[in-house]
Amino acid sequence: MFDSGLGGLSVWQAVAAALPSWPITYLADQAYCPYGCRSDDEIAARSLKIGQYLQLQGAQLLLVACNTATTAAISALRQQLSIPVVGIEPAIKPAAAASTTGRIAVLATEATLRSSRMQALLASHAGQVSVLRGIGHGWVEQVEAGDLQSALARQRVAAVLAPLLGENVDHIVLGCTHYPFLVPLIQQLTGPAIRLYDPAEAVARRICSLLANRQPSESQLHRFMTTASQADNMARLLPVLIGQAAVVETLVLH
Ligand code: DGL
Repeated sequence: MFDSGLGGLSVWQAVAAALPSWPITYLADQAYCPYGCRSDDEIAARSLKIGQYLQLQGAQLLLVACNTATTAAISALRQQLSIPVVGIEPAIKPAAAASTTGRIAVLATEATLRSSRMQALLASHAGQVSVLRGIGHGWVEQVEAGDLQSALARQRVAAVLAPLLGENVDHIVLGCTHYPFLVPLIQQLTGPAIRLYDPAEAVARRICSLLANRQPSESQLHRFMTTASQADNMARLLPVLIGQAAVVETLVLH
């Protein structure tokens, strides 16, 4: 699985818990993070390069643990790879179905919000519900720095939530895999009446069903890789983000 950086580790947790006997290779493309302000072509080119690399490494399935890469590259990945490719999308459907106020919000990167996939999701699942949209400015940077609780983190989260609060929104869809790491802060600011939607568990169930008839490879070890020139930052943050330490390998992928 891969993400632009450390956000996909929020999905890693759900997948590792659901498939304890499967070794997972997690690749953080930190040399190119954030993806959210890049062009679709750039994101697709990086995603293809990474997908091809992970397939060559023997992956039996590729999880694109990044909403932004899913919107820009999932079709190309499915065309060019021979293994199953699973993406992640904002959970508009369940949030819209559960809304009693008829108003929900989706928070995601600029690239995800402008994508035609997002417009299609809204057209097919939002129905009569109005959907407010917001970009989590600075949120990816907070998670990449492992700074989830400081005054700056609070200020950045509050600035994005401010236009949504008081709008009678009852569900907020987290449409970027970095954002779940800010849930404690988000929920402090929204209060308990607003429900947050993270699709990680649903994605983990989907992967379980796709791998049901396959056997994991011999290796029982999870691997963590980064394209950043130094692995220290990711290695330091793994215990903070997933509660366990591991060796992080650096990977040069031009
Ligand atoms: N974690 C990614 C997502 O789910 C993107 C963050 C970024 O690189 O902008 O959209």
